Amino acid sequence: MKRVRLQSGQELTIRQAIPADAEEILAYIEQISAETDYLTFGPGEFGITAEQEGIFIDTLTKSDNKLMILAFLENKLVGHLTFMGGSRPRTRHAGELGVSVLRNYWRLGIGTKLIRCCLDWANKAGIRKVNLRVRSDNTGARHLYEKLGFVYEGKTTREFCLDGKFYDVIHMGIEID
Ligand SMILES: CC(C)(COP(=O)(O)OP(=O)(O)OC[C@H]1O[C@@H](n2cnc3c(N)ncnc32)[C@H](O)[C@@H]1OP(=O)(O)O)[C@@H](O)C(=O)NCCC(=O)NCCS
Repeated sequence: MKRVRLQSGQELTIRQAIPADAEEILAYIEQISAETDYLTFGPGEFGITAEQEGIFIDTLTKSDNKLMILAFLENKLVGHLTFMGGSRPRTRHAGELGVSVLRNYWRLGIGTKLIRCCLDWANKAGIRKVNLRVRSDNTGARHLYEKLGFVYEGKTTREFCLDGKFYDVIHMGIEID
């Protein structure tokens, strides 16, 4: 568990998810799915039960190259990050990061703290490459990633389809020495 001070003076707690968090995480996911179009799911589309989520978190806690961390402000879950390392020897040093913060708490530095926490963990866990994909029109998230040292690595067209409109995703990554 880590306690960090935001610029606003508020204390943010960041810790690894445990299976008992499953219900709260699903409620969080349902809320954020209605707050942004930049995720791969909308309201009611996540498609995971609390039991499945609990089992998933359990497997993560037993893995040395996968991570789910949660950010709390006064015991309220406000941010979520996952990192999924590869499962085979040739890919286990690399993986993909996904991050979100509840809309009411954007621009407080929570996304930055979550990603920094993940990069610290990745360094210690022997991860050598952190990748991510972001919708090309998600300029806020792209700024955040660039600020933290992620670089552009390519583009996949038509990765998202929303209301009949296609969106490209940008691939970004950071090498860890
Ligand atoms: C992207 C997201 C995680 C950022 O979280 P956050 O806690 O608001 O990020 P921070 O407060 O740490 O912002 C850090 C930097 O990101 C950039 N940024 C974040 N949101 C931005 C926005 N809406 N517009 C412009 N820049 C933005 C800024 O450079 C900011 O630095 P600054 O505050 O010094 O100007 C959050 O907006 C979110 O959950 N969005 C919806 C889901 C999503 O898009 N997830 C990423 C999918 S790839």
